Amino acid sequence: MAEDSRTTAPDGPRITLQDVGPHDGGHVFDNLLHETRTFPPSDAFAAQANLGAEAYERAAADPETFWAEQARHLSWATPFTEVLDWSNPPHARWFGDGTLNVAYNCVDRHVESGHGSQIALHWVGEPGDTRDISYAELKDEVSRAANALASLGLVAGDRVVIQLPMIPEAVISMLACARLGLVHSVVFGGFSPAALRARVDDAEARLVITSDGQYRRGASAPMKANVDEALEGASTVEHVLVVERVGGATTDLVPMTEGRDLWWHDLVDSQSASHEPEAFPAEHPLFILYTSGTTGKPKGILHTSGGYLTQTSYTHRSVFDLKPDTDVYWCGADVGWITGHSYIVYGPLANRVTQVMYEGTPNTPHEGRHFEIIEKYGVTIYYIAPTLIRTFMKWGDQIPNAYDLSSLRVLGSVGEPINPEAWMWYRTNIGGGRAPIVDTWWQTETGAIMVAPLPGVTATKPGSAQRALPGLSVQVVDEQGGRVEPGEGGYLVIDKPWPAMSRGIWGDPERAKEVYWDRFAEQGYYFAGDGAKYDEQGDIWLLGRVDDVMNISGHRISTMEVESALVSHLAVAEAAVVGAADETTGQAIVAFVILRGASDTLGADQDAIVAGLMKHVAAEIGPIAKPKRILVVPELPKTRSGKIMRRLLRDVAENRSVGDTATLADTSAMRVITESLRGRE
Ligand code: PRX
Repeated sequence: MAEDSRTTAPDGPRITLQDVGPHDGGHVFDNLLHETRTFPPSDAFAAQANLGAEAYERAAADPETFWAEQARHLSWATPFTEVLDWSNPPHARWFGDGTLNVAYNCVDRHVESGHGSQIALHWVGEPGDTRDISYAELKDEVSRAANALASLGLVAGDRVVIQLPMIPEAVISMLACARLGLVHSVVFGGFSPAALRARVDDAEARLVITSDGQYRRGASAPMKANVDEALEGASTVEHVLVVERVGGATTDLVPMTEGRDLWWHDLVDSQSASHEPEAFPAEHPLFILYTSGTTGKPKGILHTSGGYLTQTSYTHRSVFDLKPDTDVYWCGADVGWITGHSYIVYGPLANRVTQVMYEGTPNTPHEGRHFEIIEKYGVTIYYIAPTLIRTFMKWGDQIPNAYDLSSLRVLGSVGEPINPEAWMWYRTNIGGGRAPIVDTWWQTETGAIMVAPLPGVTATKPGSAQRALPGLSVQVVDEQGGRVEPGEGGYLVIDKPWPAMSRGIWGDPERAKEVYWDRFAEQGYYFAGDGAKYDEQGDIWLLGRVDDVMNISGHRISTMEVESALVSHLAVAEAAVVGAADETTGQAIVAFVILRGASDTLGADQDAIVAGLMKHVAAEIGPIAKPKRILVVPELPKTRSGKIMRRLLRDVAENRSVGDTATLADTSAMRVITESLRGRE
């Protein structure tokens, strides 16, 4: 495809199928063309599965009846009579005249139905401390927290920013917000003070909930100190509620600002454990979650209550085949990401799950930590990202093989395309060649799983997410919006509204339309930003992003975000960032920078500048955005209209011969760049 035929997406990025599949250097794509293995479910599994094959047809014939049926698994204070209002696309209303309380659905109703003593959370701290929390205890904790938040004067609709490690209080805080109709915005613990501040300001949060510190790789690291730095001069925040995790309340290492800061144990523990949940309309906002798009500034993706809870609980029940009385579920995500929201907190708890929640890193104190936990708690359903699977592969088969993992019966994958090798390794070494693997495709914006196998129905294929779940509909289309032929690359679109769809971008209601819907406005499709193709059976294979969003260990980071961080450093004149294929993390960030002034400065000086730039990006965004490599170059490849050709830079970053440079304004640019880099090797 010639450079000039690229299309321009509404919010600026150039999108081309040429950019598809960079996560694996084309490797996934090549493999997919040859991958023919299939793994049908065993008869025994199929016989007991929650959802059978008939659901596809039934849902397609009458989606609204199907979704109403799913929604009725929830407890509604006012039953809905209307299912979908799509009279003003792309603004959807689902179950619009119904009311419910999300926290009541996730906690209280399970206690009322006689399951109060069932364990909701088997929490495992990184240093080895544990807590088992029953649904009755969870109800008390959430009620106390809700009373505490109400005592601070917070009222429905107010925003609360939560930055916490993976401790039970993270779940309790989210549910306490939901219970009061407060809108939470959870910020991943690894984000810098600057990134936290941007989110606090954008959401105009009145409260921030954090902890004194967190355990990470065997040591404690500060958290409250970062929050203090973030909040310097912040105008909207009235209080900071601080959970003690690392013993900070008994030292003076955690300064508390008089009148603003409160310890959780002082405020929450003394509250009454009874709290009457109020019902809110189905379209009441539940949370905002910031995610990287193709611009420098993360977008606050807004989700509401009834439709979101319906689809997260439905997909959790059907894709993982959840049996609440016997399963022990474990999703290895962090609550700071959408996977943690939808598949640790809302979907699973609405389904009365018993789940493991683990605070730490997978190799602390040893590389068998996850497997030790699976064995100890008899985990039956395990849901992680391909990056972690590839990391386990690197550590070696002998590690999982030393544990009894026979309790596992369903394995999930999420966050990035899974390569067939990792899929097969997962199946053999973790799933004992027995447990079906469900590769789940979805996004922060979709709120819940869209494309995935059904474990009791689908003959799974290593590397394919296969097809839209019953009730959902996607297509792979070409530039004009026409369905592509099998084997041809195209764009993944969602062609029917879905209950958990984002209700827009916080503070900028019209922007979502531009970003996601204008690309295929004529057809009325949602443009997901992912490349995909069909195989001969019509199964879908995801090929990676087609825009300037990188996927690092399953985390979304935009090239523009890292570029803006780099150019905010005094030494940098210009920067271009690409996601280069990486064996473990899927993609790795590689930055090309032109230094100000003496750009030919060589040797130690340059190394020191590069080290400084690495630190600078970590401070601006967070350690997850730190480039793996920063290459100092004399110029950047640009088209005549001044756009940086990242495709060529990716060739350099992935050590490939540089592709077609005909459309460069200066065709010698790439030669100058490669020679200058070679000169320094
Ligand atoms: O590119 C797709 C990739 O992750 C993007 C969404 O990122 P985020 O909003 O952070 O949500 C991650 C967790 C759902 C998608 O646009 N992605 C997610 N799951 C898959 C995937 N790519 C391929 N296969 C998947 N199963």
